[in-house]
Amino acid sequence: MGRWRLSRRKLLFLSLLCTSLLLFLHLPTSPHHFSSFSQSSSLCLSRLHRISWTHSSPPAWSWDKSETCHFRRFSGKYASEILRDAWILAAGDSQARLVVLALLRLLMEPSEVSTIEPDLFRRHSDYQITLPDKGIKVDFIWAPYESNITQLLRDIRLTRRYPDVLILGSGLWHMLHITNPALYGTVLAEIKQMAESLVEPSGSLHSHMFWLGLPKLINSKLNTEEKKEKMTGNMLEAYNKEVNWRGMSKESGGPFTLLDIGLLTRGCGPLCTLDGMHYDGAVYDAAVNIMLNSMLIDSQ
Ligand SMILES: *[C@@H]1O[C@H](CO)[C@@H](O)[C@H](O)[C@H]1NC(C)=O
Repeated sequence: MGRWRLSRRKLLFLSLLCTSLLLFLHLPTSPHHFSSFSQSSSLCLSRLHRISWTHSSPPAWSWDKSETCHFRRFSGKYASEILRDAWILAAGDSQARLVVLALLRLLMEPSEVSTIEPDLFRRHSDYQITLPDKGIKVDFIWAPYESNITQLLRDIRLTRRYPDVLILGSGLWHMLHITNPALYGTVLAEIKQMAESLVEPSGSLHSHMFWLGLPKLINSKLNTEEKKEKMTGNMLEAYNKEVNWRGMSKESGGPFTLLDIGLLTRGCGPLCTLDGMHYDGAVYDAAVNIMLNSMLIDSQ
């Protein structure tokens, strides 16, 4: 049953992609250029984070111009088509929650979002919503610590219920309460290994897996003395290095596509955050658009 549903989903997904991809990448016109197709897709993956910001209120973003890659800003309608019947599972801290909010803002009417927002942001709790007309299910699991994420991955493996899209990210709580980059690296390695083991060897069931990078922290704006003391620029850098060294991202051989929240928050700038940690919705909207575009490129 589970398998049938997943492969059906996948088929739907792929048939949409066939049509959309033709529009998406500049297809080479002469046959001897066809080998450059995958080359241009990896080029485009590497350019997904090249974004410019307009420091207006609210802030706005756009992709830098590229001859080769035609990224698309997703409309709600198109996002709903691409994600039809998909199960999206996000787990992590408040950054992951904000990504879920940005995704729901794309998929739902503004009035609908404002009615669910209080539930989504109930402190330290999980959230689940099904959009029946679209067949999209979105789960947020409150997982501030890396051990919460490894527990979740264990559950997924045990129940063999694989999400179509898995979005994970944590580190801020570790930085504040444990404050030990090397230990953080150790648990990242564990997460990486468990995530790799979820990908079926046949490759037929293939989840899209994303890792959320840490945001830029504006120390002077952090709202407690403890945060100011522990969440310094040096500490942030040390935590970021662990994400690189441990090879979480596909670029460094790992299972995850990195959604580089650090880069996006630096781009948006200090005026995009009130508390030095949680940023304007535009940042997470950009992350969601990067995510959807990378899924399009990936699935060819
Ligand atoms: C997350 O992990 C911590 C530390 O292992 C644990 O104390 C806490 O209960 C877990 N939280 C959730 C929501 O599972």
